[in-house]
Amino acid sequence: DLASDLEGFEDLQRRLAEALVDDPPVTSGEGPIFRAGYDPDLDGLRETHTSGLAWIAELQARERQRTGIPSLKVGYNRVFGYFLEITRTHLALVPPEYRRKQTISTGERYVTEELQEVESRVLSAAESAATRETELFAALRVSVADAACGLQALGQALAALDVLGSFAETAACRGYCLPVMVTEPVLDVHGGRHPVVEVNEGLGRFVPNDLQIGGERRIMVLTGPNMAGKSTFLRQAGLLVLLAHAGSWLPAESARVGLVDRLFTRVGASDDLARGRSTFLVEMIETANILRNATHRSLVLLDEIGRGTATFDGLSLAWAVTEHLHETPGGGPRTIFATHYHELTELAALLPRVFNARVEVKEWGEEIVFLKKVLDGRSDRSYGIQVAKIAGMPPAVVSRAREILANLESGEFGVGGVPRRSRGRSAPPPPPREQITFFEAPVPLPFVAKPSPPDRLRDELRSLDVDALRPLDALNLLAEWKARHG
Ligand SMILES: Nc1ncnc2c1ncn2[C@@H]1O[C@H](COP(=O)(O)OP(=O)(O)OP(=O)(O)O)[C@@H](O)[C@H]1O
Ligand SMILES: [Mg+2]
Repeated sequence: DLASDLEGFEDLQRRLAEALVDDPPVTSGEGPIFRAGYDPDLDGLRETHTSGLAWIAELQARERQRTGIPSLKVGYNRVFGYFLEITRTHLALVPPEYRRKQTISTGERYVTEELQEVESRVLSAAESAATRETELFAALRVSVADAACGLQALGQALAALDVLGSFAETAACRGYCLPVMVTEPVLDVHGGRHPVVEVNEGLGRFVPNDLQIGGERRIMVLTGPNMAGKSTFLRQAGLLVLLAHAGSWLPAESARVGLVDRLFTRVGASDDLARGRSTFLVEMIETANILRNATHRSLVLLDEIGRGTATFDGLSLAWAVTEHLHETPGGGPRTIFATHYHELTELAALLPRVFNARVEVKEWGEEIVFLKKVLDGRSDRSYGIQVAKIAGMPPAVVSRAREILANLESGEFGVGGVPRRSRGRSAPPPPPREQITFFEAPVPLPFVAKPSPPDRLRDELRSLDVDALRPLDALNLLAEWKARHG
């Protein structure tokens, strides 16, 4: 098909080659467009023009000799056109046929009848030549326009060749494989790589990963520390599917790609403040769109949805979104959901088509080593503080964050409802007593557990020896408590 679109332009090509100069100007009026010999009229006008100019160019030498005035010069200005200029010292030698045109400080300027004639011939020839070129150009355009359909098809064919050529070149240089396209909703990639990150990392240094989605393994909950490679893996899946559908080879060892009806992504953070949309609102609008439109043939990529709000709201939304996708008719779209909500990994035990994957890291004392390897199973730590340390966070902030994390992990509230997260050796000094602290604020704080009031029933229960109690006594005791507390 492409080959036939590339043919049949010999005639047009010949006509253009005959008509146009080797390097025509970009817009008309900026220099000659047509070759000599293409149009006799144009050639005649150009001849008049150049011979007139040559006559003027030789005029100075001729007139100097004829009049014996060595300072005689031919000049040009926009107002008077061509003139003969003679300095004061030689004014006496000026021949009678010279007509004075202008006096200047150093002498006089003159014209002759002949000079004016030649000049007007030169100018009108130039003008007529330009008009003739415009006419010829319009006619040439019309004749090219007759071939417009063929030229458009040629453009398309060249564009297609360009794309296919770069697919082939990239595939050959970077070791891509030919994907197998199938109709069932699967995605089966061995040794897949991210086509852009692999180039940035340096070819051969990128860690390839497998991906198997389809059948009962429909929704992947992908956990792993910060910087582990979750987003890269998720985008890689999207790019591979996109490239496969565009007809390209893929950066992988092998790949089986089930046709996708739509590719949905919820990746990165963006807002649209000018249109009154906050970051989280944009995220929710896009997620809502995915839930409304994804089918069991779609690919859905969700990178940390829900993180832009309070932890529990975010987790609850992420959980409900996953459930909703799982219940999409046909078994849910192929989905990768990267998240730091480790609680989401419990969904794999509750929903049959949800499975867990993690990006592997190795702990090395205080440090972590990123292996960038995606494996089945869940991860339960984010190592956010280690990553913050790598990023150059001040050491005091890092160690303080460690203290707070330890407090949080050992239970949030201490005796009397004081949040434990605030304690620690490097905690800021307590405020002076006269200043009321946030946690002593008179407003009742609903989340602070109050110390329990003295409780007689509990004391009695504690001191009760159940083994020594006769059934009748037990009944009597129960009746007494009921009367007192019930
Ligand atoms: N398979 C890989 N091989 C080599 N380098 C990789 C690989 N995957 C990711 N990387 C590198 O690791 C960096 C971090 O990856 P990525 O942003 O995907 O991590 P993440 O798990 O999404 O982190 P976060 O939780 O902070 O969003 C990337 O910039 C990339 O350069
Ligand atoms: Mg990420």
